[in-house]
Amino acid sequence: MNPDYSRFKKRLNAFKGAVEERLETAFQGMDIPHELLRSMKYSLMAGGKRIRPVLCLSWAAMLGIPENKVLDFACGIEMIHTYSLIHDDLPAMDNDDLRRGKPTSHKVFGEAMAILAADGLHTQAFYMMAGTDLPAKDVLQACAEMSRAAGPAGMVGGQVVDIMATGGGKMDLETLKIMHSMKTGALIRSSCVCGALLAGSCGSGQKDQTNAADYGASAGLAFQIVDDILDVTGDEKSLGKQVGSDQSLGKATYPRFYGVQRSRALAQESVDRARSSLKGYAGQHKEFLEDLAQYIVDRIS
Ligand code: IPE
Ligand code: IPE
Ligand code: MG
Ligand code: MG
Ligand code: MG
Repeated sequence: MNPDYSRFKKRLNAFKGAVEERLETAFQGMDIPHELLRSMKYSLMAGGKRIRPVLCLSWAAMLGIPENKVLDFACGIEMIHTYSLIHDDLPAMDNDDLRRGKPTSHKVFGEAMAILAADGLHTQAFYMMAGTDLPAKDVLQACAEMSRAAGPAGMVGGQVVDIMATGGGKMDLETLKIMHSMKTGALIRSSCVCGALLAGSCGSGQKDQTNAADYGASAGLAFQIVDDILDVTGDEKSLGKQVGSDQSLGKATYPRFYGVQRSRALAQESVDRARSSLKGYAGQHKEFLEDLAQYIVDRIS
């Protein structure tokens, strides 16, 4: 952690504030059935740490693109993430009743509307990302990268591995790591890579994309390990979601295989790897990304 932690917090809140503000207006002027709009906004505006958009904004900023240029793309990423949470909570998946401190979408709006709200967020995400006001070549590459990461070879594939292993399905440690890297790591990794791709017009190149990918993959794995740990050690109030659901569902998690202490050490190792991908950079954005990686293991929510 860099000495001035309050500066990190301030910057994190500034990035989050910009994301929240843009998300508020994301559906303005669109003719959307009232109940659908209400259900999409219910989940989207319920809080959340906004880690993925902040990663995209801060990688882009470190590579020279001001945050307002990348905001639409970053908000699209948050929409993809939010859709994945709505689906993840459905009775057919993790069957959870609480998310971001509020009853889950299907509890409030019913399953059909929850599925459709997630569909709406998923597609609106690509509408927003494609409209990013940067050179078309960079935007196209970033959209392709994000589609791949969120899809069957990434997040969706990881969720399938998770569901198939739930309730006593067989899983070895290598598969556990792959599952975490796919279901959570892929989107986090891609958020960073897209930041680098969107900075193409500022001279960012292959080396930066590789560094962003390494940083994001390690931070993303750590993020899911900590998510698993918090399901054991966290409290419902700070997390805004039920604790103990992994164990009651028989989920394959790091604490189940390694115990909490060893899992925490593995998460810290992964974060250290993330931080080492930043060694070629300097300045306030680099420091912010270092602290953000550490925040991923230190967080309690
Ligand atoms: C929860 O993600 C689901 C996982 C992929 C672990 P977050 O912990 O980022 O959830 P929010 O966005 O802050 O609610
Ligand atoms: C969710 O993992 C991953 C995605 C939504 C892609 P979890 O099922 O562990 O997330 P939480 O704990 O419900 O937030
Ligand atoms: Mg799940
Ligand atoms: Mg879940
Ligand atoms: Mg979890």
